[in-house]
Amino acid sequence: MTDHGRAALTATGPLSGTVRVPGDKSIGHRSLLLGALCDGPVAVTGLSDGEDNHATARVLGQLGVRIERDGDRATVHGVGLHGFSAPDGPLDCGNSGTTMRILLGILAGQPFEVTLVGDHSLSRRPMKRVLEPLAKMGLEVLSAEGGTYPPLRVRGRRALTPLRWESAVASAQVKSAILLAGLFADGDTTVTEPGVSRDHTERMLAWLGRPPAPRPIHVPGDLSSAAFMLGAALLVPGSRVTVADVGVNPTRTGFLDIIRAMGADLREGAAREANGEPAADLEVVASNPLRAIDIAGDLALRALDELPLVATIASRAAGTTRIRDAAELKVKESDRIEKTAEVLRSFGVKVDTHPDGLDVHGDPDAPLRAGDVDADGDHRIAMCATLLGLVAPAGTVVRGASTIASSFPSFHDCLAALVP
Ligand code: S3P
Repeated sequence: MTDHGRAALTATGPLSGTVRVPGDKSIGHRSLLLGALCDGPVAVTGLSDGEDNHATARVLGQLGVRIERDGDRATVHGVGLHGFSAPDGPLDCGNSGTTMRILLGILAGQPFEVTLVGDHSLSRRPMKRVLEPLAKMGLEVLSAEGGTYPPLRVRGRRALTPLRWESAVASAQVKSAILLAGLFADGDTTVTEPGVSRDHTERMLAWLGRPPAPRPIHVPGDLSSAAFMLGAALLVPGSRVTVADVGVNPTRTGFLDIIRAMGADLREGAAREANGEPAADLEVVASNPLRAIDIAGDLALRALDELPLVATIASRAAGTTRIRDAAELKVKESDRIEKTAEVLRSFGVKVDTHPDGLDVHGDPDAPLRAGDVDADGDHRIAMCATLLGLVAPAGTVVRGASTIASSFPSFHDCLAALVP
């Protein structure tokens, strides 16, 4: 099929208004996966309609877990640790690395063989990082080359061996898979990491208990989606945008710290908490010029999914923004170091790439040209290009923009609601 691309909106004046973004993708996956491990029905509210969360629900269905959905509400009829049934075909995780990696932690404890497949983008993503520790716990890896990339063929078993794992990468997906496999082991399983990764699994396990027992779960708005609305406001001078009910778990809020350090006027409402996850309304008033900053270490990790967006915003900030310690960007839905640079260059922005990050040479007054970008199966790349299109001359085209539906199906509607 030829993708003629989607024409990006241009902003004729400041953005204004209040929007709600879909539920947090990471917490949504966990509400379904951990809900399935409970012995009884779990009521979930705020669940995203994004394709990635649907992929998790679908594969759980193939494993015998009944999930009823009504808009953003769902009832997950948990089957307990040992109630899953062998699927009658491959489990298709679509574009969702989180689905595949975390699910493997549950499959390690199931005494049957399973094949997992994904789309073109997911089939290029590294799986050894999760298969290696799970194999030490008892998962049999049957795929060729020890399961470097999907498709994967694995066979679990009913009882696993506890593990103390020192992970070479800070990865919430790896950590979560090991912790969930630990539920099937008699003894303590621990993971240490070289840096901070999001802790939604730990918070939800604390909420549900061990073994997990049914309790209601609320999924707050996704900060990683909200960031695009706040970022759009920052790109268009004079904008004032609020995003309501956004998850502000401190392992995720690097983006907020970064834009504050760049000089943004960000206002955070009072935090509320549900199932151990804080949420607040976030407002950006784009009255200040932004300046370049250096981003590295834990700050880069706490904003990892938002770094392509940070680079996009930095293209309109004065000076060179340096992003480092972000080599993990290379193994996301695309090589996000190269793809981000490709997006920015397409609009005429100067960028240098490094093995673990990029330098963005920003200038709020530099003229942009209309971009032409192929998202290549990466939702966040498609959204970055769309945002730059707001402030570029008309004519920007984003190819493969349909991938945005994996995390933020209402992205274009939310943006259209804010653009004059
Ligand atoms: C996620 C963890 C992150 C993030 C991904 C979602 C999760 O990846 O990039 O979008 O829900 O666990 P890591 O496994 O690299 O932390």
